[in-house]
Amino acid sequence: MTSLARRAGVLVLAGLTAAFAACSQEEPKRPESPPAAESTPAPTVADIDGTRIVAADAEPESWLSYGRTYSEQRYSPLDQIDTESVSRLGFVWEYETLTNRGLEASPIVVDGRLFATGSWSTVYALDAKTGAELWHYDPKVPGKWGRYACCDVVNRGVAVWKGRVYVGTLDGRLVALDAATGKVDWEVDTIGGEVPYTITGAPRVVKDKVIIGNGGAEYGARGFVTAYDAATGERVWRIYTVPGDPSKPFESPELEKAAATWAASEDPAAPKWWEIGGGGTAWDSMAYDPDLDLLYVGTGNGSPWNRWVRSPGGGDNLFLASILALNPDTGAMAWYYQVVPGDTWDFTATQHIMLAELEIGGRERKVLMQAPKDGFFYVLDRATGELLSAEPFVKVTWASHVDLATGRPVENADLLYKDGPSFVQPGPAGGHNWQPMAFSPQTGLVYIPALDAGKLYSQEESFRFRKGSWNRAIGGAVGASGPGPGGAPAFTPPPSQGMLEAFDPATGTVRWKIDHPVILNGGVLATAGGLVFQGTGDGRLLAVRADTGEILKEIAVKGGILAPPVTYAVEGRQYIAVLSGWGGAGIQAIGPGTAIETYGNEGRVLAFALDGAPEVPGEPLPPVRVPEPPPAEGDAALIAQGFALYDANCAMCHTAMSTPVHRGVVPDLRLASASTYAELEAIVLRGAREAGGMPNLSDVLGADDVAAVRAFLIDESWKAYRAQEAAGTP
Ligand code: HEC
Repeated sequence: MTSLARRAGVLVLAGLTAAFAACSQEEPKRPESPPAAESTPAPTVADIDGTRIVAADAEPESWLSYGRTYSEQRYSPLDQIDTESVSRLGFVWEYETLTNRGLEASPIVVDGRLFATGSWSTVYALDAKTGAELWHYDPKVPGKWGRYACCDVVNRGVAVWKGRVYVGTLDGRLVALDAATGKVDWEVDTIGGEVPYTITGAPRVVKDKVIIGNGGAEYGARGFVTAYDAATGERVWRIYTVPGDPSKPFESPELEKAAATWAASEDPAAPKWWEIGGGGTAWDSMAYDPDLDLLYVGTGNGSPWNRWVRSPGGGDNLFLASILALNPDTGAMAWYYQVVPGDTWDFTATQHIMLAELEIGGRERKVLMQAPKDGFFYVLDRATGELLSAEPFVKVTWASHVDLATGRPVENADLLYKDGPSFVQPGPAGGHNWQPMAFSPQTGLVYIPALDAGKLYSQEESFRFRKGSWNRAIGGAVGASGPGPGGAPAFTPPPSQGMLEAFDPATGTVRWKIDHPVILNGGVLATAGGLVFQGTGDGRLLAVRADTGEILKEIAVKGGILAPPVTYAVEGRQYIAVLSGWGGAGIQAIGPGTAIETYGNEGRVLAFALDGAPEVPGEPLPPVRVPEPPPAEGDAALIAQGFALYDANCAMCHTAMSTPVHRGVVPDLRLASASTYAELEAIVLRGAREAGGMPNLSDVLGADDVAAVRAFLIDESWKAYRAQEAAGTP
């Protein structure tokens, strides 16, 4: 059997790469693809078009676009794997991506080929039956771009259309590849040079136009969405999501109106939103209704987060945190619904937009559904944007409710953190983040990869815009919660909880939920087999009864999952495929119980089918050990200075020192070897590890700063080393 032969081969490789990653912490390099055959590619490879996507149910063996259909329901009519047979579900093949950063892609499957993306926007074309590589394409994103990615160097997938595969790269390019060979057909720079924008979302193709947005609101970006001609890469239209400098002509009449909802400070020294971006980046969700001919796009948070700094004179700040309905031919706006007026909590509305037909109040409605970060589940009439329902799906404190008459949330005025810190639920991780949900027309339920979490928000003492770095205007550092050496104890928030939830959009109620041990988990798939599939951060693939939430099957995948599973069939056999590789926002929020602590973070595409093998390959790694650190350096003042510098410049990637020593996605610096310490200045100030994503920080730090960070790191390493020796850990 090919799958077994391949599996045996891969097992050896898995062991080697794991050992390599564990000792060097460097990302293994994939060898170049073998040169593609000279013959002209067959024109029929992956010949997806709009007619085929609209008629997707006629070919349930395929997964033709990001959410399978333009409605983005992530529901498959395949039912070979059902509530009875799922007990026989097992492992069939794996493909090693040879990466150790987050994998978030939703594969596209067509003509027996599976197209997925990995860290640093690499594209993989695999045989969907065996997992054998057909080709891969590495866009060679410069390692320094890792610095502009708030939440790991991830990519959520490709679009496939008429024989081409489209990928948006982390450094802002849109690349069209030949689906047969992986050769570049055309490539455009969508962002305009080295500006801190990133593309992590999957493009969508509508009427021969490739639609793509980007991220970067933490870094001072102004959001925009662009459509490119799918054949040539020529730009067809671009819309901005927030107004630019109001003294200049506006790009559209909507933006002129939007500008009236922004109010810059009168103080000439204060930063103006148009100088520091404004935000509203469209970094993930889109959906398309071919009958109404409307393209729906979700927009993100404000830049900076804090409304008192961004727009001190008040206002809704259109079109932040909004759902935009656009004409796909021109980008003209048909309607908008602002989910969070005047966002001040990093509440994006970029989360999954899903279209369905629902009976509401005895009437069949064409609805648009979204469970954005803010914790309310929104049901809108997708022809008009009228709000039909908005009920909480997790614990929500920032607003008491959403007023259906005005469509506006009723904010909790006590929690606006203007004059002091406020603990608010949800927090910036959201009640639901980018992980796709799924809808089953069989049950009428939406399955949400939800989380209960919050954050203590406070104002930054004095906001100074830092180009190319995080700009939130919020107190405390990203990912940091430790009190610091000699500091006051940090506020202890109530524990966060990750879960899978079945939400009834017609009644606005939670039907059932499953609590997960880890906060961040994978996206969701629903099938006609009466099942819901989800991977978890603690390393399991779950198959759950869609009606009751009973877990019918769980398979240990020996790796953390963030990505959504998809399903397809080849030669009559149904497969479930999912990418395993943890990271994303998890590079800042590593908790105990994550699979990567035990198994490391080797990226893989995994496929399952009935009568597959009971075990997924993978062996536990030895527990991490803190090496004996170099002799202590500096006094308490220097260490405290190093702590502040670490929190402001390193914690967003290397995580807070208050977390236990861990394997992590980005290396835990307490595990650094003596030779790494010797190289510290070269690493931080001269880009010695830039190729692996460790930025050259010489524009914000100097040699004295590195000396302080070094003293702090050595001090932290000694604490961890002594604790380890005292505990006598093997
Ligand atoms: C944008 C994310 C990011 C930021 C910010 C960042 N790092 Fe890194 N760092 C990385 C990544 C990714 C690696 C792994 C690089 C590799 O594998 O080659 C790394 C590696 C390192 C290493 C080598 C670790 C080892 O054991 O091999 C050191 C030391 C280091 N970083 C120090 C720092 C310090 C100090 C700061 C803050 C002043 C910092 N980094 C900020 C992403 C970051």
